[in-house]
Amino acid sequence: MLYLAIESSCDETAVAVVSSPSGVDEFEIRSNVIASQIDIHAKFGGVVPEIAGRAHIEAISSLAYRALADAGVSAKDIDCVAVTSEPGLIGALLVGVNFAKGFAYANKKPLVAVNHIKGHVAANYIEGGIKAPFIAFVASGGHTSIIRASSFTDFETVGRTLDDAIGEAFDKTGRKMGLTYPCGAAMDKLAAKGDPEAYKMPPAHIRDGSYNFSLSGLKTFTINLMNTAEMKGEEINFNDLCASLTKSICDSVAHQLLRCLRDSNINTLLAAGGVLANTHLRRTLVRMCDKNGIELHMPPPYLCGDNGVMIAAAAKYEFEAGRYADMSLDGAPSSKDDWKRC
Ligand code: KG4
Ligand code: ZN
Repeated sequence: MLYLAIESSCDETAVAVVSSPSGVDEFEIRSNVIASQIDIHAKFGGVVPEIAGRAHIEAISSLAYRALADAGVSAKDIDCVAVTSEPGLIGALLVGVNFAKGFAYANKKPLVAVNHIKGHVAANYIEGGIKAPFIAFVASGGHTSIIRASSFTDFETVGRTLDDAIGEAFDKTGRKMGLTYPCGAAMDKLAAKGDPEAYKMPPAHIRDGSYNFSLSGLKTFTINLMNTAEMKGEEINFNDLCASLTKSICDSVAHQLLRCLRDSNINTLLAAGGVLANTHLRRTLVRMCDKNGIELHMPPPYLCGDNGVMIAAAAKYEFEAGRYADMSLDGAPSSKDDWKRC
C-alpha cells in the first residue's frame, strides 16, 4: 500500500509518500518534504493564521508533486490519500483538506482523515515493534496531551493543558529573552549551560488528582522575573533561567505521566510532538522509564515536528479499520481530543 499524506494544520506544509504492507507494522519512507513557514512568522513572534493559510496555498501543489517525484512514483501508483483534518488553524487545515479531496477525486483514490495528535503519536510506529495499549504524551506548540490508547485507532485524552501548551510557554518566555520564534530549540541549548536549581519555579501541572497541566503560572512567573530584574537594573542569567524553567516542565511531565501509567496499569509510553526534540525532556523520560520498568518510544528528532510521514503512519491504521472519509470532509479547528491550534 502506497500512502500520499498531507499535513497543513499549522505553519508547516508537509507531504510524504510512505509504503506499508497491509496488516504488517512495517513502513518505508519513500519521500518526506516540508515547506516551513517559520521565517515568515518569526518577525511576528508567532504564527499569523491568515499568512499561514496563504503560504500553504502557495506551497501545497508543487510540494505534493515533488513528494511523488522524490518517491519515484506518479499519482496513479498511490493507493490512499491521507490528510490532517483536525485540530489546527482552520484556514491552514482547509488548504490540505481541499487539496487531498481534489487529488483523491481526480485520481479515484480512497481518502482518510487523520487527527493531528494521533499523527504525532504515529511518528513512533515507523520504527515498528509497538503494541497497544499504551499511554501517549504529545507536546508541541499548540498541544500538551496525555492519551490512553487501547489500539492504534482508539485514543482517549485523559490529561491536557488547561491553558498554554508546553511549546507555547517556551516560545513566549523565549521571546521575552529576545530569542527568535520558535524559541524551544535555542532554549534547549541555553538550558544545557545553566543551573536547573538556580531559580525555584512553580510546577507546570495541576495538583488536583487529574493528569492536567497548567503552564500559564510558570510562564507568567518567568516573564515577571525578567521584568522585575529589568526594573531593578539587575542581570538575569538566561542559561540558569532556561535550565530552571525546563526542569520544572520536565518534572511535571514525568510526575503526571508516571501517575497515569501506574493508574492505568500500562507499561508502554509513546512520547511525541515538536517539544520532544528537547534533549532534557528526552533524558528525563528515559530516566523515569528505566527506573520504573516502562517501555519508552520517542520518534527521532526529525519526526518530532510536523511532517507527512506521521500522518501516513496514522492513516494506515484508520484505512485498515475501514475508516474512510468522503468528499464531505471538512477541517475542524478543534476536536474532542484537543481544542487548541495545531
Ligand atoms: O510539533 P511542532 O513542530 O508544531 C506544532 O504542532 O506546534 O512543535 C513546535 C514547537 C514549538 O513551540 C517549538 O518551540 C518547540 O516545538 N520545540 C522545542 C524544541 N524544538 C522545537 N521545544 C523545546 N526544545 C526543543 N529542542
Ligand atoms: Zn504538531
